[in-house]
Amino acid sequence: MSTDGWQRLEHRLSPTDDAIDVVRLDLVADCDRITSLRALLSTDEIARADRYVFAESRRRFIVCRGVLRQLLGGCLERKPASLEFHYGPYGKPMLGSADKESIGLPSLEFSVSHSVNWALIAVTRRRRVGVDIECRDNKTPIHELARRFFSAGEAAELASLAEPDQRAGFFRGWTSKEAYLKATGLGLSYSLNRFSVAMNPRLPAQLLEVADLPDPSDFWRMIALEPADHFSAALLVEAARHETVCVRQWSVEGQDIPSPSKHHTPDPDWQQRRRSIVAVGYRDVGSNWLRVYPRPRSFRSRWNTTRGGTFVASTTASMRMTGPPTSKNPKTWAW
Ligand SMILES: CC(C)(COP(=O)(O)OP(=O)(O)OC[C@H]1O[C@@H](n2cnc3c(N)ncnc32)[C@H](O)[C@@H]1OP(=O)(O)O)[C@@H](O)C(=O)NCCC(=O)NCCS
Repeated sequence: MSTDGWQRLEHRLSPTDDAIDVVRLDLVADCDRITSLRALLSTDEIARADRYVFAESRRRFIVCRGVLRQLLGGCLERKPASLEFHYGPYGKPMLGSADKESIGLPSLEFSVSHSVNWALIAVTRRRRVGVDIECRDNKTPIHELARRFFSAGEAAELASLAEPDQRAGFFRGWTSKEAYLKATGLGLSYSLNRFSVAMNPRLPAQLLEVADLPDPSDFWRMIALEPADHFSAALLVEAARHETVCVRQWSVEGQDIPSPSKHHTPDPDWQQRRRSIVAVGYRDVGSNWLRVYPRPRSFRSRWNTTRGGTFVASTTASMRMTGPPTSKNPKTWAW
């Protein structure tokens, strides 16, 4: 059982179009693991790894890309080494059309971010997704960067926060902005002051304004994650206002991820397994309480019949699945 909301991943991911799997990956690895992950990379990826001057950067790239291949290969029932990545005009990695879809399932989407020895990999189906993780470095000149790169409203909100919240607020803003650039694939081609995000680290993350988009919360859901001490992270998922999406947090710290087999075997442990969910279409209504939002009729009836428990006061809640995660039964969760 996880104590920090990140459950050890011991099976293949099974993202659906209303569930986003976020994997926290420890990029520290011994020589054997680096060698076996390097063997999964394509020729151009190996060439890129070899161009890193520092061995540490090379190791981080190999581990991250190798595990990304394992995770996506597992979802698609394909060998990790056989996947082909293509790159958007601003560098966004994507699966080639032959790899993108497994039979009968919507296309697989993913996003990757790394900072120091941690990486986050978000995987879902059909929806655009962006994730970003940053180390809350004490030396970063937060106000100077905010004035230079953030919108005027964001810089003002940051300056208005209580002093102890300002550093966390800056990184909340930075990761939220990067998550938007990742999800859209625009990278730094899009000016950072053309859109605004919420800066207050005590309130839910939010995409507030985007040039030419009347109300971004009609299209996007921003979720703050807590990946590790001294790190901030944000996840942005394409979701209409009425849609319910959930986020499942997994942790990979050196363990092997089961490789795809030809026939899918049901996971025998689903009844016991706890999964961590950080958002189930919620809206925060204050600094301390979460409310499920929106609550479509069909979902509410299931929700009310689940066994009790109090849903308290943080952005994460451990929930237990009350049924296996099939496409017919994707939302039967209890806590
Ligand atoms: C490339 C960028 C999308 C993110 O870069 P970053 O935050 O430095 O690095 P991250 O580790 O979070 O992300 C890198 C990953 O994003 C992915 N990526 C690269 N370009 C991308 C794009 N255009 N869209 C989506 N994802 C992209 C890749 O998977 C890459 O990792 P990989 O090549 O090892 O697989 C871009 O926004 C950037 O260069 N930002 C620089 C940071 C900055 O100045 N931020 C300003 C806030 S004050």
